[in-house]
Amino acid sequence: MSRLVLRAPAERAVFETVLPFAGRRRGKVRDVYQLPDTGSGQQLLIVATDRISAFDVVMPTPVAGKGCLLTAISMGWFDYLRTHQVAQDHLISDQVPEIPYAPESLRASLEGRVMVCRAAKVIPIECVARGYLAGSGWNEYRQSASVCGVRLRPGLVQCDRLEEPIFTPSTKADVGHDENISFEHACELTSTPLMERLRTITLNIYGLAAKYALKRGVILADTKFEFGFALDSRGEVTDELLLIDEVLTPDSSRYWPLEGYEPGRDQPSFDKQFLRNYLLGLVAQGKWAKSPPGPAIPPSIVAATRDRYSECARLLFPS
Ligand SMILES: Nc1ncnc2c1ncn2[C@@H]1O[C@H](COP(=O)(O)OP(=O)(O)O)[C@@H](O)[C@H]1O
Ligand SMILES: [Mg+2]
Repeated sequence: MSRLVLRAPAERAVFETVLPFAGRRRGKVRDVYQLPDTGSGQQLLIVATDRISAFDVVMPTPVAGKGCLLTAISMGWFDYLRTHQVAQDHLISDQVPEIPYAPESLRASLEGRVMVCRAAKVIPIECVARGYLAGSGWNEYRQSASVCGVRLRPGLVQCDRLEEPIFTPSTKADVGHDENISFEHACELTSTPLMERLRTITLNIYGLAAKYALKRGVILADTKFEFGFALDSRGEVTDELLLIDEVLTPDSSRYWPLEGYEPGRDQPSFDKQFLRNYLLGLVAQGKWAKSPPGPAIPPSIVAATRDRYSECARLLFPS
């Protein structure tokens, strides 16, 4: 399958794409297209752009090369997970020449940032695994000593390692913030056997990935997976469960450097920390209210943010 080569960040940022394929959907970061039918099940083209979002708002300034770094990290993990056979996944190829009918003129800008995938009916639950107490998990624990209905022992501090990783589902909101829900509530929204299956797969992948990352000096504090059921060539939903979307990227996961890790305080993370801090500064000054449109981001913050993504990729999958 793919190589684990990390490609150099693109010189020119790709903020959005307009490709001659049907059904473009634009997520916060990825542009998703339906590919022409090749007779072997419906396929999607997922293009990771250089858009960056924070507080669920897409910033007007791209981080050039971020889409390539995210794609390289996802590809590294798909490769790794496949060797351990933990889940069927949606990936077909990350090779531009394998995109059916892609116009020659657009190929260069897509290099390194595409995934051709099997289309799925997305299960509307975000499958989160947490091995450490951070973010919304920490906030919830402080109020209720539990996270998504999972009771934890008292006395834990911020960013503490949990005795056992926990599964904490959330809703997949079309607009706005995802919301943490109990396992029982997730079962009501889907079904108990399905959620039990997803919990097992989610914790298995988290366990494997966290162990791998730790050996490379990176703590995988938590991560979020999406799953779906594959569509056949007529677009009918099959019963084939697939791991979809990006996997284990800094956009879907919380990574901390192992060096300097110390429970009891927030940790510097390999993601949008610089951007978030910058934005919180604007919020404090009354210059931005965490709602669209986002403010323009200064070059120094863009560069520092790209460096964090790049460092994370280099540590996890050294070439
Ligand atoms: N194999 C797949 N089939 C259908 N939808 C998928 C598949 N893989 C990923 N997706 C969807 O593609 C979108 C990716 O774009 P993204 O920018 O991450 O969106 P979001 O703003 O929802 O996070 C997500 O909505 C995700 O659910
Ligand atoms: Mg997403």
